[in-house]
Amino acid sequence: MIKIAPSILSANFANLERDLQKISSADWAHVDVMDGHFVPNITIGVPVVKSLRKATKMFLDVHLMIDDPARYVAAFADAGADLLSIHLEAAGPKHIAEALRIMDEHKVKKAVALRPITKAEAILPYLEQLDMVLVMTVEPGFGGQAFMEEQLDTIRGVRSLIDRHNPNCLLEVDGGVNVKTARLCVDAGANVLVAGSAVYGAEDIPAAIAALRGC
Ligand code: DX5
Ligand code: ZN
Repeated sequence: MIKIAPSILSANFANLERDLQKISSADWAHVDVMDGHFVPNITIGVPVVKSLRKATKMFLDVHLMIDDPARYVAAFADAGADLLSIHLEAAGPKHIAEALRIMDEHKVKKAVALRPITKAEAILPYLEQLDMVLVMTVEPGFGGQAFMEEQLDTIRGVRSLIDRHNPNCLLEVDGGVNVKTARLCVDAGANVLVAGSAVYGAEDIPAAIAALRGC
């Protein structure tokens, strides 16, 4: 079963409650947190996640594109995130392990995200304890970028590691996903698809979600 996680980065930030309702036929809501350091853009913080939690029962898939994630994961978990993705490149191995430990303590699902530059094998030290691996198919920071086809190799690489070491672990793909590229991602082994512009940019949002699901 493929899960569809529309990214609210492409929603209207003055109308988030309304725009969450528009994606209610999807499985998850993907929330992009950016700090202006790890990526050259600033978006959503803890208070917004807290308000989203009050506005919806949807599963909140929170993608932390921030430096020093161990410092903030407790706050995002307590704000109501269901799953947190931290970036492997955001800190050294000790700090990543510490962030994952705090996520366990705060009973939030754990994912590690990989920038396009990072090889699939880099996930191995953490894989057995993860609920999900996120493979970026654009350079993180902005919605609406073109899908990087060369990332299909990373998706296939992560898929084979997951099958060997932690078969229940989900594999999410994020960046430039539309009906065409979604098919490639699913064929390469992804089972959670993030899509921002392909969903919120569509005239008929439920139809766009259904089309992605059919990939
Ligand atoms: C990019 C974000 C993505 C973004 C995807 O850094 O992590 O979640 O919203 O947007 P699209 O689907 O438009 O590429
Ligand atoms: Zn994202």
